[in-house]
Amino acid sequence: MIRKATVADRPRITEVRLAVRENRLSAASQDKVDRTADWIFENAAFWVWEEDGAVQGFSVADPRDGTIFGLFIHPDYESRGIARALLPCACEDLRAAGFAVAKLTTGAGARAERFYRTNGWQETGRQDDGQIIFEKPL
Ligand SMILES: CC(C)(COP(=O)(O)OP(=O)(O)OC[C@H]1O[C@@H](n2cnc3c(N)ncnc32)[C@H](O)[C@@H]1OP(=O)(O)O)[C@@H](O)C(=O)NCCC(=O)NCCS
Repeated sequence: MIRKATVADRPRITEVRLAVRENRLSAASQDKVDRTADWIFENAAFWVWEEDGAVQGFSVADPRDGTIFGLFIHPDYESRGIARALLPCACEDLRAAGFAVAKLTTGAGARAERFYRTNGWQETGRQDDGQIIFEKPL
């Protein structure tokens, strides 16, 4: 089931975020991620996939800058189409906020890179740290 998250989901969202094996959160970016998550819980939406009585994945956009802020599926629930189902919810939030293009960055060589390429995202460049910049028209 897909639904909007409530503040009560936040600990489990963090757990899912920490459970992933790729695109793990670096200590350096933790503060920035926490501040963005605070803002989104107050002003926008995390979308969550609930199954077996718990949140097993989430997608979330930042409607301030047109980016997909996160897409994370618990490793035990991968390869079942959950990311494919959740990502359009975050993209729709960006479209509703007035963006014509969604943007995101992800690590090169990770499963996510293949996922985005097969789901219609185009590489538009690389960051200094090697992260791939992807865009998709909304
Ligand atoms: C990348 C990530 C989000 C993909 O999530 P996912 O739920 O496994 O993705 P999906 O299942 O929607 O699609 C992935 C695969 O499942 C397959 N699939 C889709 N629907 C399916 C279904 N109903 N049944 C079986 N397989 C299916 C797809 O063909 C795809 O196969 P492939 O990987 O061989 O190309 C997830 O692996 C993850 O959270 N990774 C760690 C964190 C991360 O990198 N996040 C993105 C960084 S911003």
